[in-house]
Amino acid sequence: MAGQKIAVVGSNMVDLITYTDRMPNPGETIEAPRFEMGCGGKGANQAIAAARLGAQVMMVTKVGDDIFADNTIRNFETSGIDTRFVERVPGTSSGVAPIFVDPTGENSILIIKGANAKLSPADVDRAEEALKDCALIVMQLEVPLETVYHTVALGARHGIETLLNPAPAPAELDASRIEALTFLVPNQTELATISGMPVESEADAEKAARVLIDRGIRTVIVTLGGKGALLVSAGAEIRRIGAVAVTPVDTTGAGDAFIGAFSRYYVETGDMEAALHKAVRYAADSITRPGTQKSYATAADFAAFLAKVGE
Ligand code: RIB
Repeated sequence: MAGQKIAVVGSNMVDLITYTDRMPNPGETIEAPRFEMGCGGKGANQAIAAARLGAQVMMVTKVGDDIFADNTIRNFETSGIDTRFVERVPGTSSGVAPIFVDPTGENSILIIKGANAKLSPADVDRAEEALKDCALIVMQLEVPLETVYHTVALGARHGIETLLNPAPAPAELDASRIEALTFLVPNQTELATISGMPVESEADAEKAARVLIDRGIRTVIVTLGGKGALLVSAGAEIRRIGAVAVTPVDTTGAGDAFIGAFSRYYVETGDMEAALHKAVRYAADSITRPGTQKSYATAADFAAFLAKVGE
């Protein structure tokens, strides 16, 4: 492995989280008990989770020219993230995500991409030399698809491992342009969309993952929400990583906590299964607290959680 640095080429948002007893009906106004604002965005969340667990992380992203931008950059800096490739876009808003969380902890999210929609292949090329020092490049789909395809190709060209979390669920992803990925990390819905196959059971998930692996992707990790994850790799038996039972308070960003933690432990050891075991637990711990990045444990707090639930 080239080194242990992780690059995230992806999004950042400001999360505007409303905790509500129920969603309003059309034309209705209701009062919600609580609101919180925090840093979010799938890319930034994954970067922060990895950094909070001690990884060296570099972020390639775009912010607007509003007050949200200053806050986002400060947040990266205080988390020790390399911000050399975080650029401001004049005349554009930062990405924003109004989020609604119900009493069971389930969330509904709207995203306004803002400056994230301007992250281009040229921006990735500007970071090329720095990317070459990274062991893993992590991506999501809140930035233009062309930028994702370009980054997958760049990773393959330089022998850098790449991970794509295809979220939000893609309407028009060209599967032929992500075949060089090392890791695809979809949930069941995203896997069904990308493979074009039904995914209603774990057997379906394995079949769909094998089709993508036959096309070139080395490993597919299927997230199963509260049930853990499946690890499907070329030439290996499927592995199931079980969940831990917790009482959810807010599930927002749990998938990102999972990916950040997986990336951090994978680059350290190269052991996918052990990294997934930790990632499932890190995500479970995150849903016991409100907020997105605010709910991500530090390495010390995560060690305490592991001691409680078992490694
Ligand atoms: O995955 C959770 C994230 O999705 C939130 O932080 C929100 O910003 C959206 O990007």
